[in-house]
Amino acid sequence: MNHAIDRQQALFQAAEAARYAPSVHNTQPWRWVVSADRLELFAAAERQLHTQDPDGHMLQLSCGTALHHARLALAAEGWQHEVERPADSPLAVIRPTRHTPARPEAARHFQTLHVRHTDRRTVSDEPVGTDTVEALIHAVEREGARLHLLNRDGVIELAVLVEHAQRAQATDVRLQVETAAWVGGERADNAGVPSSVLPAEQPRTTVAERDFGTSGTLQAGEGHDTAATYAVLYGSGDEPADWLRAGEALSALWLTATERSAGVLPNSSPVEVPFIRHELRRLIGDLGFPYLVLRLGTFGSEHAGPDRTPRLPVEQIIEVRS
Ligand SMILES: Cc1cc2nc3c(=O)[nH]c(=O)nc-3n(C[C@H](O)[C@H](O)[C@H](O)COP(=O)(O)O)c2cc1C
Repeated sequence: MNHAIDRQQALFQAAEAARYAPSVHNTQPWRWVVSADRLELFAAAERQLHTQDPDGHMLQLSCGTALHHARLALAAEGWQHEVERPADSPLAVIRPTRHTPARPEAARHFQTLHVRHTDRRTVSDEPVGTDTVEALIHAVEREGARLHLLNRDGVIELAVLVEHAQRAQATDVRLQVETAAWVGGERADNAGVPSSVLPAEQPRTTVAERDFGTSGTLQAGEGHDTAATYAVLYGSGDEPADWLRAGEALSALWLTATERSAGVLPNSSPVEVPFIRHELRRLIGDLGFPYLVLRLGTFGSEHAGPDRTPRLPVEQIIEVRS
Protein backbone atom coordinates (compact mmCIF):
# COMPACT_ATOMS: atom_id res chain seq x y z
CA MET A 1 0.00 0.00 0.00
CA ASN A 2 1.37 3.46 -0.90
CA HIS A 3 0.87 5.49 2.27
CA ALA A 4 2.00 8.76 0.63
CA ILE A 5 -0.85 8.62 -1.90
CA ASP A 6 -3.25 7.30 0.71
CA ARG A 7 -2.44 10.17 3.01
CA GLN A 8 -2.88 12.89 0.39
CA GLN A 9 -6.13 11.33 -0.79
CA ALA A 10 -7.42 11.20 2.79
CA LEU A 11 -6.49 14.88 3.23
CA PHE A 12 -8.34 15.80 0.04
CA GLN A 13 -11.41 13.83 1.15
CA ALA A 14 -11.29 15.55 4.54
CA ALA A 15 -11.37 18.99 2.88
CA GLU A 16 -14.20 17.75 0.64
CA ALA A 17 -16.24 16.56 3.67
CA ALA A 18 -15.65 19.89 5.43
CA ARG A 19 -17.79 21.56 2.75
CA TYR A 20 -20.85 20.32 4.63
CA ALA A 21 -19.97 22.37 7.72
CA PRO A 22 -22.40 25.08 8.84
CA SER A 23 -21.35 28.71 8.34
CA VAL A 24 -22.83 32.12 8.99
CA HIS A 25 -25.31 32.85 6.14
CA ASN A 26 -23.81 29.77 4.43
CA THR A 27 -20.90 31.96 3.30
CA GLN A 28 -18.50 28.97 3.47
CA PRO A 29 -15.63 31.36 4.18
CA TRP A 30 -12.85 28.77 3.95
CA ARG A 31 -10.18 27.64 1.53
CA TRP A 32 -8.06 24.49 1.79
CA VAL A 33 -4.60 23.69 0.48
CA VAL A 34 -3.82 19.97 0.30
CA SER A 35 -0.15 18.90 0.26
CA ALA A 36 1.45 15.46 0.57
CA ASP A 37 1.80 15.67 4.34
CA ARG A 38 -0.61 18.38 5.51
CA LEU A 39 -3.91 20.16 5.05
CA GLU A 40 -3.97 23.93 5.55
CA LEU A 41 -7.09 25.94 6.31
CA PHE A 42 -7.28 29.58 5.20
CA ALA A 43 -10.00 32.18 5.69
CA ALA A 44 -11.65 33.36 2.44
CA ALA A 45 -11.81 37.10 3.11
CA GLU A 46 -13.93 37.64 -0.01
CA ARG A 47 -16.71 35.66 1.69
CA GLN A 48 -16.52 37.50 5.03
CA LEU A 49 -19.58 39.55 6.03
CA HIS A 50 -17.55 42.74 6.42
CA THR A 51 -20.46 44.85 7.74
CA GLN A 52 -22.17 42.31 9.98
CA ASP A 53 -18.93 40.70 11.12
CA PRO A 54 -16.10 43.28 10.86
CA ASP A 55 -13.88 41.45 13.38
CA GLY A 56 -14.24 38.15 11.54
CA HIS A 57 -15.61 36.37 14.62
CA MET A 58 -18.40 34.60 12.72
CA LEU A 59 -15.93 33.79 9.95
CA GLN A 60 -13.58 32.17 12.49
CA LEU A 61 -16.47 30.25 14.11
CA SER A 62 -17.49 29.02 10.66
CA CYS A 63 -13.93 27.99 9.77
CA GLY A 64 -13.77 26.17 13.12
CA THR A 65 -16.80 24.04 12.20
CA ALA A 66 -15.09 23.16 8.89
CA LEU A 67 -11.86 22.30 10.74
CA HIS A 68 -13.76 19.94 13.05
CA HIS A 69 -15.50 18.31 10.07
CA ALA A 70 -12.11 17.75 8.37
CA ARG A 71 -10.64 16.27 11.56
CA LEU A 72 -13.59 13.89 11.82
CA ALA A 73 -13.27 12.78 8.21
CA LEU A 74 -9.59 11.94 8.78
CA ALA A 75 -10.40 10.06 11.99
CA ALA A 76 -13.10 8.11 10.14
CA GLU A 77 -10.37 6.96 7.70
CA GLY A 78 -8.20 5.88 10.64
CA TRP A 79 -5.72 8.77 10.36
CA GLN A 80 -4.53 10.08 13.68
CA HIS A 81 -3.37 13.68 13.35
CA GLU A 82 -1.98 16.77 15.00
CA VAL A 83 -3.55 20.19 14.62
CA GLU A 84 -1.65 23.44 14.82
CA ARG A 85 -3.72 26.61 15.13
CA PRO A 86 -1.57 29.63 14.21
CA ALA A 87 -4.99 31.34 13.81
CA ASP A 88 -3.61 33.86 11.36
CA SER A 89 -2.76 32.62 7.91
CA PRO A 90 -3.21 29.70 7.71
CA LEU A 91 -5.81 29.49 10.46
CA ALA A 92 -4.91 25.85 11.05
CA VAL A 93 -2.66 23.06 9.79
CA ILE A 94 -3.61 19.38 10.10
CA ARG A 95 -0.80 16.81 9.89
CA PRO A 96 -1.63 13.09 9.80
CA THR A 97 0.69 11.12 12.06
CA ARG A 98 -0.28 7.42 12.16
CA HIS A 99 -2.74 5.15 10.45
CA THR A 100 -4.70 2.90 12.82
CA PRO A 101 -8.06 1.10 12.62
CA ALA A 102 -10.83 3.74 12.69
CA ARG A 103 -13.00 3.94 15.79
CA PRO A 104 -16.72 3.21 15.11
CA GLU A 105 -17.81 6.52 16.67
CA ALA A 106 -15.63 8.42 14.17
CA ALA A 107 -17.38 6.60 11.31
CA ARG A 108 -20.78 7.45 12.85
CA HIS A 109 -19.94 11.16 13.20
CA PHE A 110 -18.72 11.13 9.58
CA GLN A 111 -22.13 9.84 8.44
CA THR A 112 -23.86 12.47 10.56
CA LEU A 113 -22.04 15.43 9.03
CA HIS A 114 -23.79 14.67 5.72
CA VAL A 115 -27.28 15.00 7.27
CA ARG A 116 -26.84 17.76 9.90
CA HIS A 117 -28.70 20.93 8.97
CA THR A 118 -30.28 24.09 10.38
CA ASP A 119 -33.98 23.83 11.19
CA ARG A 120 -35.85 27.13 11.72
CA ARG A 121 -39.27 25.55 12.33
CA THR A 122 -40.83 25.99 15.77
CA VAL A 123 -39.80 23.22 18.13
CA SER A 124 -42.22 20.57 19.43
CA ASP A 125 -43.55 20.41 23.01
CA GLU A 126 -41.06 17.62 23.78
CA PRO A 127 -37.96 19.19 25.37
CA VAL A 128 -34.45 17.91 24.68
CA GLY A 129 -33.73 15.21 27.30
CA THR A 130 -31.29 15.86 30.14
CA ASP A 131 -29.00 13.03 29.00
CA THR A 132 -28.75 14.69 25.58
CA VAL A 133 -28.04 18.07 27.16
CA GLU A 134 -25.30 16.40 29.23
CA ALA A 135 -23.83 14.86 26.09
CA LEU A 136 -23.81 18.28 24.37
CA ILE A 137 -22.03 19.91 27.33
CA HIS A 138 -19.47 17.13 27.25
CA ALA A 139 -18.95 17.46 23.47
CA VAL A 140 -18.35 21.22 23.81
CA GLU A 141 -15.95 20.86 26.74
CA ARG A 142 -13.90 18.21 24.93
CA GLU A 143 -13.20 20.88 22.29
CA GLY A 144 -12.12 23.47 24.86
CA ALA A 145 -15.27 25.64 25.07
CA ARG A 146 -18.20 25.80 27.52
CA LEU A 147 -21.99 25.75 27.33
CA HIS A 148 -24.19 27.78 29.68
CA LEU A 149 -27.87 26.80 29.89
CA LEU A 150 -30.31 29.62 30.58
CA ASN A 151 -33.07 29.25 33.15
CA ARG A 152 -36.57 30.67 32.62
CA ASP A 153 -35.60 34.21 33.75
CA GLY A 154 -32.46 34.03 31.64
CA VAL A 155 -34.54 33.16 28.57
CA ILE A 156 -36.76 36.22 29.11
CA GLU A 157 -33.67 38.43 29.44
CA LEU A 158 -32.22 36.82 26.32
CA ALA A 159 -35.45 37.60 24.43
CA VAL A 160 -35.01 41.30 25.29
CA LEU A 161 -31.34 41.28 24.23
CA VAL A 162 -32.14 39.56 20.93
CA GLU A 163 -34.87 42.10 20.23
CA HIS A 164 -32.49 45.02 20.89
CA ALA A 165 -29.78 43.44 18.74
CA GLN A 166 -32.20 42.86 15.85
CA ARG A 167 -33.46 46.44 16.13
CA ALA A 168 -29.90 47.81 16.04
CA GLN A 169 -29.13 45.68 12.98
CA ALA A 170 -32.41 46.54 11.23
CA THR A 171 -31.53 50.25 11.19
CA ASP A 172 -28.14 49.63 9.56
CA VAL A 173 -28.77 50.06 5.84
CA ARG A 174 -25.36 48.73 4.76
CA LEU A 175 -25.94 45.59 6.80
CA GLN A 176 -29.36 45.10 5.21
CA VAL A 177 -27.80 45.36 1.75
CA GLU A 178 -25.12 42.83 2.72
CA THR A 179 -27.72 40.40 4.12
CA ALA A 180 -29.83 40.67 0.98
CA ALA A 181 -26.80 39.65 -1.09
CA TRP A 182 -26.52 36.36 0.82
CA VAL A 183 -30.07 35.48 1.86
CA GLY A 184 -33.21 34.58 -0.09
CA GLY A 185 -33.95 33.35 -3.60
CA GLU A 186 -32.73 30.09 -5.10
CA ARG A 187 -28.97 30.67 -4.69
CA ALA A 188 -27.68 29.64 -8.11
CA ASP A 189 -24.22 30.67 -6.83
CA ASN A 190 -24.08 27.63 -4.48
CA ALA A 191 -23.69 29.80 -1.38
CA GLY A 192 -26.02 31.75 0.90
CA VAL A 193 -29.36 30.86 2.46
CA PRO A 194 -32.12 29.85 -0.01
CA SER A 195 -35.70 30.92 0.66
CA SER A 196 -36.74 27.23 0.97
CA VAL A 197 -35.13 27.04 4.45
CA LEU A 198 -36.55 30.34 5.73
CA PRO A 199 -39.94 30.41 7.48
CA ALA A 200 -42.88 31.67 5.41
CA GLU A 201 -44.08 33.57 8.47
CA GLN A 202 -42.18 34.72 11.55
CA PRO A 203 -42.55 31.78 14.00
CA ARG A 204 -44.27 32.50 17.35
CA THR A 205 -41.47 32.45 19.87
CA THR A 206 -40.35 33.98 23.17
CA VAL A 207 -36.87 34.54 21.74
CA ALA A 208 -37.16 35.86 18.19
CA GLU A 209 -35.42 33.99 15.40
CA ARG A 210 -33.04 36.04 13.30
CA ASP A 211 -34.83 38.58 11.12
CA PHE A 212 -33.27 38.09 7.68
CA GLY A 213 -35.41 40.88 6.24
CA THR A 214 -37.15 38.45 3.89
CA SER A 215 -39.55 35.57 4.30
CA GLY A 216 -39.19 32.15 2.70
CA THR A 217 -41.35 29.16 1.88
CA LEU A 218 -40.70 26.88 4.88
CA GLN A 219 -43.83 25.99 6.87
CA ALA A 220 -42.60 26.74 10.38
CA GLY A 221 -45.51 25.13 12.25
CA GLU A 222 -48.06 26.33 14.74
CA GLY A 223 -46.18 25.78 17.97
CA HIS A 224 -44.32 28.03 20.34
CA ASP A 225 -40.76 27.72 21.64
CA THR A 226 -41.75 27.14 25.29
CA ALA A 227 -40.14 23.67 25.35
CA ALA A 228 -36.90 24.92 23.79
CA THR A 229 -33.65 25.04 25.75
CA TYR A 230 -31.54 28.17 25.20
CA ALA A 231 -27.81 28.06 25.74
CA VAL A 232 -24.80 30.29 25.26
CA LEU A 233 -21.59 28.88 23.82
CA TYR A 234 -18.73 30.68 25.56
CA GLY A 235 -15.09 30.38 26.53
CA SER A 236 -12.16 31.93 28.32
CA GLY A 237 -10.53 33.76 25.40
CA ASP A 238 -11.45 36.32 22.76
CA GLU A 239 -8.58 35.80 20.29
CA PRO A 240 -9.02 34.35 16.77
CA ALA A 241 -7.75 30.94 17.97
CA ASP A 242 -10.47 30.93 20.67
CA TRP A 243 -13.19 31.61 18.10
CA LEU A 244 -11.79 28.86 15.89
CA ARG A 245 -11.94 26.42 18.80
CA ALA A 246 -15.48 27.60 19.56
CA GLY A 247 -16.38 26.64 15.98
CA GLU A 248 -14.93 23.18 16.51
CA ALA A 249 -17.03 22.92 19.68
CA LEU A 250 -20.13 24.07 17.78
CA SER A 251 -19.61 21.34 15.19
CA ALA A 252 -19.10 18.69 17.90
CA LEU A 253 -22.27 19.84 19.69
CA TRP A 254 -24.35 19.95 16.51
CA LEU A 255 -23.32 16.48 15.31
CA THR A 256 -23.98 15.01 18.77
CA ALA A 257 -27.40 16.70 18.83
CA THR A 258 -28.22 15.38 15.33
CA GLU A 259 -27.35 11.83 16.38
CA ARG A 260 -29.78 12.22 19.29
CA SER A 261 -32.58 13.68 17.11
CA ALA A 262 -32.24 17.16 18.61
CA GLY A 263 -32.22 20.33 16.50
CA VAL A 264 -29.82 23.27 16.89
CA LEU A 265 -30.55 26.82 15.77
CA PRO A 266 -27.79 29.41 16.24
CA ASN A 267 -28.54 33.10 16.68
CA SER A 268 -25.52 35.31 16.25
CA SER A 269 -27.22 38.76 16.38
CA PRO A 270 -26.70 39.27 20.15
CA VAL A 271 -23.01 38.46 19.74
CA GLU A 272 -22.50 40.70 16.72
CA VAL A 273 -23.72 43.94 18.35
CA PRO A 274 -20.94 44.91 20.82
CA PHE A 275 -23.08 46.51 23.56
CA ILE A 276 -25.51 43.57 23.47
CA ARG A 277 -22.63 41.08 23.65
CA HIS A 278 -21.52 42.91 26.77
CA GLU A 279 -24.99 42.36 28.30
CA LEU A 280 -24.95 38.73 27.19
CA ARG A 281 -21.70 38.28 29.07
CA ARG A 282 -23.40 39.65 32.18
CA LEU A 283 -26.32 37.27 31.59
CA ILE A 284 -23.97 34.28 31.84
CA GLY A 285 -22.58 35.61 35.13
CA ASP A 286 -19.35 36.95 33.59
CA LEU A 287 -18.18 33.36 33.23
CA GLY A 288 -16.36 34.08 29.97
CA PHE A 289 -16.67 35.49 26.44
CA PRO A 290 -19.95 34.65 24.66
CA TYR A 291 -19.51 33.23 21.13
CA LEU A 292 -23.02 32.22 20.03
CA VAL A 293 -26.59 31.77 21.28
CA LEU A 294 -28.13 28.35 20.57
CA ARG A 295 -31.70 27.13 20.62
CA LEU A 296 -31.98 23.38 21.28
CA GLY A 297 -35.23 21.59 20.57
CA THR A 298 -36.96 18.58 19.07
CA PHE A 299 -39.29 18.31 16.06
CA GLY A 300 -42.27 16.10 15.33
CA SER A 301 -41.77 13.40 12.69
CA GLU A 302 -44.73 14.43 10.48
CA HIS A 303 -42.61 16.82 8.35
CA ALA A 304 -39.35 15.88 6.61
CA GLY A 305 -37.76 19.19 7.61
CA PRO A 306 -36.11 21.85 5.49
CA ASP A 307 -34.07 21.30 2.32
CA ARG A 308 -30.30 21.05 2.35
CA THR A 309 -28.49 24.30 1.63
CA PRO A 310 -26.11 24.40 -1.37
CA ARG A 311 -22.33 24.11 -1.21
CA LEU A 312 -19.55 25.62 -3.34
CA PRO A 313 -17.87 23.24 -5.82
CA VAL A 314 -14.65 21.52 -4.74
CA GLU A 315 -12.53 23.37 -7.36
CA GLN A 316 -13.43 26.70 -5.81
CA ILE A 317 -12.29 25.89 -2.29
CA ILE A 318 -9.64 23.16 -2.52
CA GLU A 319 -6.20 23.57 -4.06
CA VAL A 320 -3.89 20.56 -4.41
CA ARG A 321 -0.12 21.14 -4.29
CA SER A 322 2.16 18.35 -5.32
C1 LIG B 1 -21.32 31.03 13.17
C2 LIG B 1 -22.74 30.78 12.70
C3 LIG B 1 -23.72 31.72 12.94
C4 LIG B 1 -25.04 31.48 12.52
N1 LIG B 1 -26.01 32.40 12.81
C5 LIG B 1 -27.30 32.14 12.47
C6 LIG B 1 -28.35 33.05 12.85
O1 LIG B 1 -28.13 34.07 13.51
N2 LIG B 1 -29.62 32.73 12.47
C7 LIG B 1 -29.91 31.61 11.74
O2 LIG B 1 -31.08 31.39 11.43
N3 LIG B 1 -28.93 30.73 11.36
C8 LIG B 1 -27.64 30.97 11.72
N4 LIG B 1 -26.65 30.08 11.38
C9 LIG B 1 -26.98 28.90 10.56
C10 LIG B 1 -26.48 29.08 9.11
O3 LIG B 1 -27.31 30.00 8.43
C11 LIG B 1 -26.44 27.71 8.41
O4 LIG B 1 -25.48 26.91 9.04
C12 LIG B 1 -26.09 27.83 6.94
O5 LIG B 1 -27.08 28.51 6.24
C13 LIG B 1 -25.88 26.45 6.29
O6 LIG B 1 -27.06 25.68 6.40
P1 LIG B 1 -27.06 24.26 7.13
O7 LIG B 1 -26.67 24.49 8.57
O8 LIG B 1 -28.47 23.78 7.01
O9 LIG B 1 -26.05 23.38 6.46
C14 LIG B 1 -25.34 30.29 11.81
C15 LIG B 1 -24.33 29.34 11.58
C16 LIG B 1 -23.05 29.56 12.03
C17 LIG B 1 -21.99 28.52 11.81
